[in-house]
Amino acid sequence: MTSSELRSKFLEFYKSKGHAIIPSASLIPENDPSVLFTTAGMHPLVPFLLGEKHPAGKRLADVQKCIRTGDIDDVGDDTHCTFFEMLGNWSLGDYWKEEAIKWSFEFLTKELELSLDRLAFTCFEGDKDAPKDEESAKIWLSCGVKKERIAFLPKEDNWWGPAGKTGPCGPDTEMFYWKLNDTPAPKVFDPKNKNWVEIWNDVFMQYVKDEDGNYITAKQKNVDTGMGMERTLAILNGKENNYETELFLPIIKKISELAKEKYEGKYVKVYRIIADHIKAAVMMIGDDKGITPSNKDSGYVLRKLIRRAVRYSDIIKMKYGELQTEFVFDTIVDAVINIYKNAYPELYIRRELIISEIYKEEVQFRNTLQKGLREFEMLRATENISGKDAFNLYQTYGFPIEITEELAKEKGLKVDVEEFNKELKNHQDLSRTASAGVFKGGLADASEETTKLHTAAHLMLAGLRKVLGADVYQKGSNITAERLRFDFSWKEKMTSGQINDVENFVNDIIKKDLPVSCEEMTLEKAKELNAMGVFESKYGEKVKVYTVGQGNEVVSREICGGPHVEHTGILGKFKIQKEESSSSGVRRIKAVLE
Ligand code: ALA
Repeated sequence: MTSSELRSKFLEFYKSKGHAIIPSASLIPENDPSVLFTTAGMHPLVPFLLGEKHPAGKRLADVQKCIRTGDIDDVGDDTHCTFFEMLGNWSLGDYWKEEAIKWSFEFLTKELELSLDRLAFTCFEGDKDAPKDEESAKIWLSCGVKKERIAFLPKEDNWWGPAGKTGPCGPDTEMFYWKLNDTPAPKVFDPKNKNWVEIWNDVFMQYVKDEDGNYITAKQKNVDTGMGMERTLAILNGKENNYETELFLPIIKKISELAKEKYEGKYVKVYRIIADHIKAAVMMIGDDKGITPSNKDSGYVLRKLIRRAVRYSDIIKMKYGELQTEFVFDTIVDAVINIYKNAYPELYIRRELIISEIYKEEVQFRNTLQKGLREFEMLRATENISGKDAFNLYQTYGFPIEITEELAKEKGLKVDVEEFNKELKNHQDLSRTASAGVFKGGLADASEETTKLHTAAHLMLAGLRKVLGADVYQKGSNITAERLRFDFSWKEKMTSGQINDVENFVNDIIKKDLPVSCEEMTLEKAKELNAMGVFESKYGEKVKVYTVGQGNEVVSREICGGPHVEHTGILGKFKIQKEESSSSGVRRIKAVLE
């Protein structure tokens, strides 16, 4: 089965069960300071899981582009990828376990024709927060699943969410497939056996975790499911790993044409890492809200991925010619675009940009690398390179441990890999803690302060367009309870006069206490009304349009999921604290309400 067949089979199936098909949202979350990338299909839907009305209805299905960087050290094994696609269906306060599980079962066994003999399931075993999920197990049994193929596991395995610190979550039931072609699946399911690959997860979001860590019964019970595209495609085609599917093979093949080392033995993982990282980089730069390498946030993740790919490309001696600085990735980029050109046409449209950004980063990195190599020479180690030094090279210059080992070997030296791994683990624990910290708030945060800043963002965009002109478009926003960060297209620094004018514009509207209203309409109607919107392709047919003002005095009209305040008077005083460059042609404003 091809990837496009799998995509359409899934969507057609859920369409036949009354679901509206919505397009993939951007990889870069809108209005969500809690995460750098969209990590699951449910992510862009959080406001609707919390009870906002979705314009397309209560049953949704989509194929969502996702990025997960938490598992970066697992990348290169059989099943982990930085970029992946998630096939998902949702019930927003509509159907519940019975339908969700029966449809999952029907899709797996009838549509995909997977043999029940090779399937196994896990359910939540229960704890102080929630009871054992006997109900799900009973439904699986009623489908014909054998008791021995159902395992009950604790929260760390069979509970999903919240995506941040707080928000919707609940017990889940996961579906596994026995991947070994030549060995029959064991009668009794042992979830620890890695030959069982998790392919799908049905989450029953009946709780909301609050600030104090309590699980409160949710007002709206939702179903959130996610099936891993790459894994499922692999097993459907009898492959034991993602890299042998059509979503990777052409990339691996291209790399092998450019590399001196073959795709075998210890180089297999190196090839896979390059393929994975360049694919993720193409997706990040080529997204509708694409990013470029930088030292901050998502731009930094992108930078790390490209740099890692460059270093690994040297391990397999992937070069066109004699020159060190020759660009190695453009044909790899083309291989990625070619795989996804129908599913994500935006990549093809942005091809030049993608190639030039990756090229610039490679050149810049190779300069840094020269410095790193000098640093390496300075280590003057006579016997062993300490794990700390190796980690420093890794941290500061992006040397993967394999590179340090190779360089050391050339000098007849060894590297203390054990100590390096310890340092690395410490560092990862620290950064996990840090990223868990930024989850606080997020889309789930619809506090009054956040809501006010949402409305302020609309007023500010109107102000910017009034003062600077109609070339100004929103490029992204990020709102917490404390402040508003807003990116927009504009080439130069704003003068202090312009900043004042925008502030005055917003504060005038606040003073006038204009009403804010919301209406659902088709995208065409919204366009006719000149509503602004960066979400154009996100919600499908019907969109929500928020209007500030009425009659002859409409000051802002935007397509937006909300929420917003009801009238502008309650916003307080609007102040721009900072105006700076964000990336080329994009400025960034930080603003507050006092
Ligand atoms: N949100 C669930 C997951 O990512 C479906 O597994």
